[in-house]
Amino acid sequence: MAFLVFEGLDGSGKSTLIKKLNQLLSDQGHQTVLTHEPGGTELAEEIRNLILKTDGEAPVSMAELLLYEASRAQHVEKLLRPSLQQNKWVLCDRYYGSTLAFQCGGRGLDREMVDKLNRVATGGLEPDLWVLLDLSLEESERRRMSRNEDADRLEQEKADFHERVRNYYLDLAKAEPEKWLVLNAEASPEDLFKELQSSLKERQWLS
Ligand SMILES: Nc1ncnc2c1ncn2[C@@H]1O[C@H](COP(=O)(O)OP(=O)(O)OP(=O)(O)O)[C@@H](O)[C@H]1O
Ligand SMILES: [Mg+2]
Repeated sequence: MAFLVFEGLDGSGKSTLIKKLNQLLSDQGHQTVLTHEPGGTELAEEIRNLILKTDGEAPVSMAELLLYEASRAQHVEKLLRPSLQQNKWVLCDRYYGSTLAFQCGGRGLDREMVDKLNRVATGGLEPDLWVLLDLSLEESERRRMSRNEDADRLEQEKADFHERVRNYYLDLAKAEPEKWLVLNAEASPEDLFKELQSSLKERQWLS
């Protein structure tokens, strides 16, 4: 079993890749938990709605950060840790990598302060691997448009915000290459899945 986190811009193909991996793991008889942040428990989902809703008063950057961390603390203790203790594979769509990329990269919040809050909220729970689906802004935008859903509050941010987020992710991966698998998200879902699979085999997490 392993704790894998999938990160990337909206529309980068996280859900698509997670679904494929989940299918393979289930076929091989593994127990899996598919989850996401913000959210993953009843209370954390309520906090998610507060963060992403587009009507009413928008949170200031610090309030936004603390809402993410509150939902994370709940998620870690109620779902992530128990699932890992039960030897389940945990496939998590976004984790504190998103907070670093969006709150530090996008909003410009202080990294040291965010690192501290991430450590508090996670209690030090680290994934075995971060999978970054790296996608150009243009393609991310195109895919979101083609889905035809209303943009949430983060999706409504301007292009330079998303560009900073993308670059921050790439810097995180560069700083700790052994912990991050960077995939070019413009590849087909099949090719992306093959790359992920061979990386998991290399690490001997998959047979
Ligand atoms: N490798 C790919 N190549 C082309 N299109 C893709 C690929 N992966 C996913 N898509 C399409 O792009 C759109 C977004 O994919 P998906 O929902 O998996 O992304 P996501 O990262 O989960 O997005 P969000 O963060 O908004 O949930 C979907 O319409 C999906 O069919
Ligand atoms: Mg998704």
